[in-house]
Amino acid sequence: MTGGCPVHFDPLDPGFLADPRPMWAQLRDEAPVRYDPDLDMWVVARHADIEAVFRDPATFSAANAQDPAFPLHPEAQAVFAQGWVPLKTLSNADGEYHSRNRRYSLVGFSPRRLRALEPVIRRTTIGLIDDLEAAGPGADVVRGLAFPLPATIIFTLLGFPPEDTDQLKAWANDRLSFSWGRPSPEEQARTAADMVAYRAYCDAHVARRLAEPADDFTTDLLQFHRDDPEQLTLAEAAHIVFGFSFAGHETTTNLLANALLRCLDEPGVWDRLVADSGAIPGAVEEVLRFDSSVIAWRRITTTDTTIGGTAVPAGAKLLLLIGAANHDPAVFDEPERFDIARADSRYLSFGWGKHYCLGAPLAKLELEVALQELTRRFPGLRRADPDSPLSYHPNLSFRGPRKLTVSW
Ligand code: HEM
Repeated sequence: MTGGCPVHFDPLDPGFLADPRPMWAQLRDEAPVRYDPDLDMWVVARHADIEAVFRDPATFSAANAQDPAFPLHPEAQAVFAQGWVPLKTLSNADGEYHSRNRRYSLVGFSPRRLRALEPVIRRTTIGLIDDLEAAGPGADVVRGLAFPLPATIIFTLLGFPPEDTDQLKAWANDRLSFSWGRPSPEEQARTAADMVAYRAYCDAHVARRLAEPADDFTTDLLQFHRDDPEQLTLAEAAHIVFGFSFAGHETTTNLLANALLRCLDEPGVWDRLVADSGAIPGAVEEVLRFDSSVIAWRRITTTDTTIGGTAVPAGAKLLLLIGAANHDPAVFDEPERFDIARADSRYLSFGWGKHYCLGAPLAKLELEVALQELTRRFPGLRRADPDSPLSYHPNLSFRGPRKLTVSW
């Protein structure tokens, strides 16, 4: 099925973002692979097709994964061109170059580092829950927990000074709009300047860690530069840090918020988690399937090819609807049933294959700890305002409610 298909799909539409499942079902059924002229992208909706794309990095390059999703205004292009270092490192790199950078990053992201982070995650979570409790019923759990927890953890891992957190969060929010949203020309110019400043901050951080090593990811990564400065340049190291600093919290903030929303809205689920913390890992897996915080990802074809039997030309930009894949009845029995005992990890929320999310274990750990501590402290947790509509940031890929008030 190709262009001319009658399905009208606007991925930034508030109605779609509030409940994307009906549109996903329609696309899977009626237009599983189709060129969308408004997006100038080929939209792919079925699990088998998306997995096949992820499995074949030679035909489906990741080069466009971080590009602005919509054309930039000339003014923003000029700001960007002046100060930006046009480097590819991990999620938007291909081939041996990607594999090498991934190997380096894995070392700085070892099981030892993760284990060392667990007490930090727990301590941070408990402190944030203390503050929520002090704020009293009606508190916003996104602002109070889902937002600061992943930021604190990833910035600790990277070795960023805690006093820079607010600035980093603001830059990350701009990056979200810049690469995945449709900002106005004025916003584009501002966010382009912020992206340049954010990247310069990472350069300065890498230079500082080279001079003053510490016990963190950045220092571990720089060992490869010390061993062979040409294998990993300082600019590449800074770009990896830049990538991690964004990937490590926007995704996880939304995942935490989606998890709380789903576990509170589905009858009986919160009570089950309170009664048996052993059910929490299953709930984490099912949230990842049912309510992934990354609902779409991008690729670009390197040659003429076919996807699910549809011919797609070389240079085609693809929008892979991960969320639609996670609800595909061809893979999951009764996909619209939220079942914390499902034990099926075939969801594509972390991608698949060569680019499989490096942060998956950390994101799951953060969610598990947050659910453990919240069920312990607030067995009677519920939404404070279940009838008011939720708001979602208008962008292609990252989905989670911006605010979620709770009582206990
Ligand atoms: C602590 C949190 C996280 C960190 C540090 C992190 C880090 C990363 C990194 C470094 C990559 C690039 C890997 C590569 O190209 O080789 C990546 C890819 C990705 N991550 Fe994460 N991530 C985190 C959380 C999440 C979460 C919660 C989700 C969604 C539920 C997610 C979804 C993805 C996806 C879809 C990709 C792209 C996979 C592909 O291109 O095939 N990440 N992540």
